[in-house]
Amino acid sequence: MRSGLIVVPDARALARRAAERIVELTRAAVAGRGQCAVALAGGSTPLATYEVLGTSALAAAVPWGAIAWYFGDERAVPPDHPESNYLPVREALFASRPEALDRVHRMPADAADLDLAARAYGERLPDPLDLILLGLGEDGHTASLFPGSPALGERSARVVVVTGPKPPNPRLSVTPPVIETAREILVLVSGAGKAQALARALEGPLDPTAVPAQLARSGTWIVDRDAARLLRSMS
Ligand code: 6PG
Repeated sequence: MRSGLIVVPDARALARRAAERIVELTRAAVAGRGQCAVALAGGSTPLATYEVLGTSALAAAVPWGAIAWYFGDERAVPPDHPESNYLPVREALFASRPEALDRVHRMPADAADLDLAARAYGERLPDPLDLILLGLGEDGHTASLFPGSPALGERSARVVVVTGPKPPNPRLSVTPPVIETAREILVLVSGAGKAQALARALEGPLDPTAVPAQLARSGTWIVDRDAARLLRSMS
């Protein structure tokens, strides 16, 4: 089995395992470098992990005061919009830690000038990130890097404006170099609906233009059994 692949029984175990891993990684970064920059993933899968991290006994082990939180992508909606990545993350991870909100750098994808906002965020984003959390879409996307997107060819800007395949279409997303240079990459994947995309991401022919999540192949993938069911390495 691939060394960076951790298969757990279900979504609940995934949340627990991922939260433990985030605690280990953030503590190691703070022990080694005094601080830690984390980019959070949007989507629904990581929300249970954020909740465990923010509200379980594990929360006491998180070095909250030394972590700066960023985002890997955001939809062009205000921060209190239900389609934003910010709102559910805020509720799941920071509801019981309002003081940590001072250290949260949301992606301002609701700005009037999105190109300017992308440039400014890209300049603020620590290089390298200590940890980037990512999800996987059924079409193989990760962050808001969709198959065939011109953003996949971006080598200098760290954040760009992209167009998603469904509303809200305009988004900001980190670019491939941000993923490739992150010190740690953690990808969370849950559910049978992701099985095909996961097999393509980890075991398909290498072509990140078609399967952008392959940019994270070298990372640690924590996936549940339903998502893992088509992996050759599982048979
Ligand atoms: C987003 C994400 C995106 C997400 C995947 C998986 O803004 O939508 O950052 O890359 O991680 O689409 O989403 P689910 O966890 O909801 O399946």
